[in-house]
Amino acid sequence: MKPVVQVAPRLAHRMAQMQPSAVREILKVAERPDVLSFAGGLPAPELFPVEAIAAAHAEVLAKDGAFALQYSTTEGYGPLREWISGHMRRQGIAASVNQILITSGSQQGIDLVARILLDPGDVVLVENPTYLAALQVFAAYEAKLVPVASDDDGMQMEGLEALIVAHRPKLIYLVSNFQNPKGTSLSLPRRQQLAALADRYGVVILEDDPYGDLIFRGERLPAVATLGSSNVLRISTFSKTLAPGLRIGWLSGDEALVRKVTIVKQAADLHTATLSQRATATLLRDFDLDGHLAKLRSVYGHRCDTMLAALRANMPAGTTWVEPGGGMFVWMQLPNGLDAEALFAAALAKHVAFVPGSAFFVDAVRRDFLRLNFSNRPPELIIEGMRRLGEVVHAAVASPPPPVVRRAETVPPFAQ
Ligand SMILES: Cc1ncc(COP(=O)(O)O)c(C=O)c1O
Repeated sequence: MKPVVQVAPRLAHRMAQMQPSAVREILKVAERPDVLSFAGGLPAPELFPVEAIAAAHAEVLAKDGAFALQYSTTEGYGPLREWISGHMRRQGIAASVNQILITSGSQQGIDLVARILLDPGDVVLVENPTYLAALQVFAAYEAKLVPVASDDDGMQMEGLEALIVAHRPKLIYLVSNFQNPKGTSLSLPRRQQLAALADRYGVVILEDDPYGDLIFRGERLPAVATLGSSNVLRISTFSKTLAPGLRIGWLSGDEALVRKVTIVKQAADLHTATLSQRATATLLRDFDLDGHLAKLRSVYGHRCDTMLAALRANMPAGTTWVEPGGGMFVWMQLPNGLDAEALFAAALAKHVAFVPGSAFFVDAVRRDFLRLNFSNRPPELIIEGMRRLGEVVHAAVASPPPPVVRRAETVPPFAQ
């Protein structure tokens, strides 16, 4: 037999920039049943309205089974878009049905917006740090990412105009409420400045807002999309309020731009799952969403407060963290510049896990931050987890572990 000569398949150029998500790799280890993980960005599963979702699916299949299992329009199921339009109106955001596109999770919204705007080498301005899976999308379109500094009031506006003038970005991406990973929100004056800049320079703002409904402290701020610019595209989702497995999100904004996004969605997946859309619309018809949101806010607020109290009780001096008013995450800075990646193995040895913060930075990667999720664990496990983590951090302060030397392929995609 002739020896088989194996020739490696030739991958697209963009794959050079694409790395496995550090968070997903970490989640694999953190998912071990013996590990008390605060790494995933997971909602509380015991609060999923399972029975109502099951009843809605049963009703849809019984009454409209053939339609629910058929192909459908790319724009999305009419009654669901109507419900979302009304829901947005109640939140002060005017969007007609024609300005709403149903997406397969809000993650697809990020991808589709990138697809209509970005050519290789185009610049996207992003908060730094920011949502890792958005960075992965922009990498897939071979965009050049330019970081914008952020503080406790979100993306800093000083310097943003200079960056816009210098780089002529096509897109500015930000998470306006209870950001992932930091838990911070963009202040009102900054929202107004941002909307004004979008108009002045004709740059599209992608306002990603999966967490706005999970507010448990403070005042709800107006969406950037309501502040007068037609260049703001907004995405949201039922992933954090109903259940992520439904994979129902939506995009809204200027009708002409939404139309462009609809065209690329046709090529991406034809449409979002018909059954899931119809079941979600049926659920929302009868479901007390406001009551459900009130429950989520109360449970998450309590879990967050439990975590903050446990951090105060267990962390050594010099450790700091953001106190969020909503969302699902606490962003913590280790004392003495300790390396969170180096701490990860020690934490696993104590059966506790987090996400090292380095994964969320675009450049000038900081090693001394970590992200903790509080929505997915009951208070008693949060207390136990923070006790274990406190021991790990105390031990590291006493005897700092050597920094992790990264193998080339584990360097986060934008760490230069
Ligand atoms: C900031 C942000 N945007 C978008 C998403 C994607 O959510 P989904 O696609 O489930 O709607 C997430 C999920 O964690 C997120 O944190």
